[in-house]
Amino acid sequence: MNGGEVKFVPTHAENDHQLDPDEVIRAMGPRTFALILNNPNNPTGAVYPRSTVETILEECAYRGIQVYADEVYDHLIFDDDDFASVLNCSMDLDNIMCISSFSKTYSMAGLRVGWVIASQAAIKSLRRYHMFTTSVANTPSQFAGVAALTGDQQCVQDMVSIYKERRDKVVELIDQTPYMTGYKPGGAFFAFPGLPPHVDGSDLALRMLKETGVCMVPGDAFGEASTNAVRISFSTTCEKLEEAFDRVIPWMAKQQF
Ligand SMILES: Cc1ncc(COP(=O)(O)O)c(C=O)c1O
Repeated sequence: MNGGEVKFVPTHAENDHQLDPDEVIRAMGPRTFALILNNPNNPTGAVYPRSTVETILEECAYRGIQVYADEVYDHLIFDDDDFASVLNCSMDLDNIMCISSFSKTYSMAGLRVGWVIASQAAIKSLRRYHMFTTSVANTPSQFAGVAALTGDQQCVQDMVSIYKERRDKVVELIDQTPYMTGYKPGGAFFAFPGLPPHVDGSDLALRMLKETGVCMVPGDAFGEASTNAVRISFSTTCEKLEEAFDRVIPWMAKQQF
């Protein structure tokens, strides 16, 4: 990333893909410039509790580390009413940029409109960069964004309830799948089940696609620590999810791991 060295802090299905704040702090060093916190998380769907977010933010403020908080799934929360946005876990925005978008809450993926909430000084620098790269968001998408924000928000609640049903369905189906370690994602629309330690998720996903027609994203797309995992998206109907697992469950049972 712009010449910087990236350190990943892995999470695991056995631990509900929760982030250990002490592990995050241990990964910080004297040359750490920035931290990316994606909550709710893609690919795991994990939602980090307030205590985790507050501990990380406090340490970053103390060390002068910039926090880039990607909260594009902030409305897709299934179990916890109290979403711990960085915006309400910190006293100020001095070292925080909170990034969000219309893509997930309003199904406006591809229209390329989102926003950043940050300190005035940070916005000043960002505007300079933005001006010479994308210039502006396109006009029809801006009107769509205004309509989304000013319109009736019931559609968001309705969609969250539907995603919750799909989440429950996927959790149930993963539990029935041989060799997959499941857990309950609290948000977004992904599950990231683990596979046995020696299994190459990339090889598995490719063979699964060829032999069953079902597409899962291999874990190595999200870092070296998750090669033995696959990402399952549940942004589709429960019927489609059932059909996919009707093919995947017997196929997985035939694997010789
Ligand atoms: C964590 C995360 N951040 C950002 C984005 C991109 O959002 P947008 O469509 O607004 O560019 C995605 C889309 O998949 C995502 O999963």
